Amino acid sequence: MNGRYVAHANAQIHIEDRGYQFSDGVYEVAAICRGRIIDEDGHLVRLKRSLRELRIAIPMAEAPFKLVCRETLRRNRVHNGIIYIQISRGVARRDHPFPDDVESALVMTARAVSWPDDANENKGAQVATVADIRWLRRDVKSISLLPNILAKQEARDKGAYEAWLVDGEGFVTEGSSTNAWIVDERGRIVTRKLDHNILGGITRATVIKLARANGLEIVERPFTVAEALAAPEAFLTSTTSFVTGIIGIDGNQIGDGTPGPVTRLLRGFYLDYCRESGSNLS
Ligand code: PDD
Repeated sequence: MNGRYVAHANAQIHIEDRGYQFSDGVYEVAAICRGRIIDEDGHLVRLKRSLRELRIAIPMAEAPFKLVCRETLRRNRVHNGIIYIQISRGVARRDHPFPDDVESALVMTARAVSWPDDANENKGAQVATVADIRWLRRDVKSISLLPNILAKQEARDKGAYEAWLVDGEGFVTEGSSTNAWIVDERGRIVTRKLDHNILGGITRATVIKLARANGLEIVERPFTVAEALAAPEAFLTSTTSFVTGIIGIDGNQIGDGTPGPVTRLLRGFYLDYCRESGSNLS
């Protein structure tokens, strides 16, 4: 926290931290596999972009920042798990305009999670569609997540794992904390193109690279809920869900009700990539 390693139980935020009062901040979540941060550079590039878009000062140069990430993992003995990084505009008397001379506030936490060993073990997940009521700068990884958590909870209340957010024209934008994909009848992998409507997922970028490197075709375009319901396969991606097959949308079965072959292939490629970038670097 702001230059000090503090025991979790003693980590406290000032009541006038603008992250707390205005959600005036950004965050990153990265996966740790075999002691290494998966796609560390991609996460750093996105973090810096989010900060720049909101005109929040970068709290630390890149080299010491990376060292602090490693030290946070070491102190928490995280070999497999996640690291969470949050930067708010800082602490200032409550007033809407950006304060002068404020120092941005940095928090990092890390915790252990055991990742799956077997790519085929995943049984897939249900999603529920929910109207996308978020702001129009979803490309910024802002800590302002109220519409996302409301959508996720609505999905969980319906027995689904994730919410698929749907825009005013019936197109799926993304999940509440994941990117959304379908596979069409010709085996092409379809996901929405990057713009201000969705977050540029780091997992999304890696999956596109892995798919292309293995001769699979990617089409970046929006798709409707009706198209997803008729698709042979659907899946989602994120740092913490990797590639997860979708086996039902609003209770309607997708494919044969198990993750499809393209989804399983991509999940395998991605998990291998995580294990390899873990071991290659260590
Ligand atoms: N969520 N879309 C949204 C709205 C997200 O919040 C996330 C990530 C993604 C996937 O991005 P990535 O592949 O870089 O994880 C897409 C993180 C995991 C979270 O909020 O916990």
